[in-house]
Amino acid sequence: MSGPAPSQPFLRACRREPTAYTPVWAMRQIGRYLPEYQAVRSRMSLLDLCKTPEAAAGVTVRTVDVLGVDAAIIFADILLLLEPLGVGLSYVKGEGPLIARPVRTLEQVRRLPDVDPAEGVPFVFETVRLARQGLDGRVPLIGFAGAPFTVASYLVEGQPSRAFLETKRLMRAEPEVWDGLMSRLAALTARYLNGQIAAGADAVQLFDSWIGCLSPADYRRYVLPYTRRVITSITGGVPVIHFGVGTAGLLEAMRDAGGDVIGLDWRVDLGQAWDRLGGGVAVQGNLDPVLLLSSPEEIRRGVRGVLDAAAGRPGHIFNLGHGILPETPWRHVVAMVEAVHEMSAARG
Ligand code: CP3
Repeated sequence: MSGPAPSQPFLRACRREPTAYTPVWAMRQIGRYLPEYQAVRSRMSLLDLCKTPEAAAGVTVRTVDVLGVDAAIIFADILLLLEPLGVGLSYVKGEGPLIARPVRTLEQVRRLPDVDPAEGVPFVFETVRLARQGLDGRVPLIGFAGAPFTVASYLVEGQPSRAFLETKRLMRAEPEVWDGLMSRLAALTARYLNGQIAAGADAVQLFDSWIGCLSPADYRRYVLPYTRRVITSITGGVPVIHFGVGTAGLLEAMRDAGGDVIGLDWRVDLGQAWDRLGGGVAVQGNLDPVLLLSSPEEIRRGVRGVLDAAAGRPGHIFNLGHGILPETPWRHVVAMVEAVHEMSAARG
């Protein structure tokens, strides 16, 4: 089994080295919009699929073949780590993830078991090994985890939330509970990502999807130290992609928390955002996922806009600003990938 060459465009772009064309992949590239995935999911639940490494690795590899993307992502979920904590994780159709026993008190934080990811979620590491084998060096494999804040928000709220009232209340009113919870999650997440790297992940992405609900001051005080702890603990010299949604007011703070690549959503101009971040990081993004529901011509126009904003600077990884929507025709994703390759190579 051979790994991907370090000269592959995705890995080169993570290091801000020039590439012959702009590498592209899409967050949530494996998912309900894809007939291949639907077929697998008709036979097993989301959790069962995650716990069946042959099947999970299979959807990762087939998705790369169907889409022609420059990076693969393992099939897992940011909340899998919560299951061995015994908080009652389930995925309810139409509602999203639920936590039966939310964690809000010091006593509840103290009672969380000290989980070794190798024992709590061994199937994830096996999925990484099998996916890497199946890819056989064609494209690099991205491992991932939820960042402490976003995972904590599910643990505290118990269900998907819009305003994150309980999470913000806890964070401000009970700093000891918050610190206890975030410290535990930071340590667990670092071990989890390092386990994925040891199993063969070529890069890792930290999803802090819901940090956009925070002011810059709250982010710096209640979130940044823990995210930084995760990122500085990452071993193996693999690139770290640090992603969030609604982060226009937080970009400098996110950069200060760490990451070789900062993931941008579509609400910012990629060129202006990169100027703010400075030359020390690569950027990933940032087409509006809704654009993939429109015509191939409009998709091409959108791709051109993002490439123009990047202006040929080394270190751009093309992606959506957030995950692919379930309503997306899969051929439109292929059209996006082809447009990125063709237009960026022509710039060359
Ligand atoms: O290509 C991929 O990205 C597949 C791997 C992946 C999944 N979840 C599988 C999954 C990844 C990277 C995630 C990340 C994830 N999970 C995030 C961060 C990214 C983001 O979208 O902001 C978050 C917040 C979660 C938590 C989660 N898991 C939610 C909110 C939901 C339900 C809502 C939804 O989008 O369906 C899930 C379920 C889930 N995880 C699905 C998939 C493919 C849904 C499809 C299914 O039920 O089969």
